Amino acid sequence: MSSPRRAFSAAFPSDCWYALARSGDVDQEPLGLRALGLPVVLFRAADGSAVALEDRCAHRAYPLSAGVVVDGGLRCGLCGFVYDADGQCVSVPTQPRVPFGAKVASYPVQERDGLVWVWLGEPGRARLARVPELPWLDDEAWAGVGGSSVVAAGYLLLHENFADVTQVPFVAPEIAPSVIAVAPPLDVVVTETTVTLRREFAPAPLPAWQADLLGAGDAAFETLQEGYFLSPAAWVDRWDVTGADGTTARLRFTHLVTPLDEGLSQLHWQVDRDFAVGDDGADDLMLEMFGDYYDRVLVAMETAQEVLDVDGPGPEVNVAADVAALKVREIVLAMLATESPAVITTRRARL
Ligand code: FES
Repeated sequence: MSSPRRAFSAAFPSDCWYALARSGDVDQEPLGLRALGLPVVLFRAADGSAVALEDRCAHRAYPLSAGVVVDGGLRCGLCGFVYDADGQCVSVPTQPRVPFGAKVASYPVQERDGLVWVWLGEPGRARLARVPELPWLDDEAWAGVGGSSVVAAGYLLLHENFADVTQVPFVAPEIAPSVIAVAPPLDVVVTETTVTLRREFAPAPLPAWQADLLGAGDAAFETLQEGYFLSPAAWVDRWDVTGADGTTARLRFTHLVTPLDEGLSQLHWQVDRDFAVGDDGADDLMLEMFGDYYDRVLVAMETAQEVLDVDGPGPEVNVAADVAALKVREIVLAMLATESPAVITTRRARL
């Protein structure tokens, strides 16, 4: 007999919807991956719905992702146990009776905006949390480029980086608004579970790449920049520029974060635009430019993680621009404390 295994590291908020795959990547081929230190297998049931199960057979230590999808579920590739969408073993080839307790964990799944969101936490709490709405990811009116990386840095380090928009002109001066040298004040709005930051730039010429794509020349545009910590799984930036004629060109920067293990994260990033849609040259330009930007950011995050690993958290001096990052940290630590009362605020180093 056995029972489904659910073992989490206290360093990960597990009561959260995580985007573990794109919808198009989940089909009749089992897709094995890791999230929150757990093995997970994704596949599509006969009715087309996405299914997430523990990726380890109840019989022996063998990944179900090495099996095949059959009528009625997922068949283990070693000795043929078949599991249905609830993780219940429904067939054992060598005997008519399924042993009591032959079951693996199944996880709630939602598909939205072309993503497969999985809830690895307490199943009863899944309905209490909303999947982030990211409609531009699956809308033909938008064009996007993106990439995926495994980063040797904790998920909280990544979110704190996204929350600090003052880093952008130093990491990538070519893509930031040209008026960044006199950045306006940042407004930060906090709820129990989210952080929003916002600032508006006075009219100024666009960065060269964007002026070229919009055919704007030296014309002045107002820039609105907003950032949203939606959950430990998602950070979104909104970057809108509006010309003198009132026309707005919009950019959305989507960051989907999944803790893989302590100090190790998966990042899917995507930059979507509602201008120059269908322009392959624009796609190539933006993929090269933002791919290089995210490469630089992630190297910086891995470097910061190395410092934390070697020397520990240490004291930090904060400035006004750190308000959003500090609020994100507070929210994540509160989530961890709710899920595991033993967690205390000193556990930052490998978050
Ligand atoms: S290891 Fe899966 S059925 Fe034996």
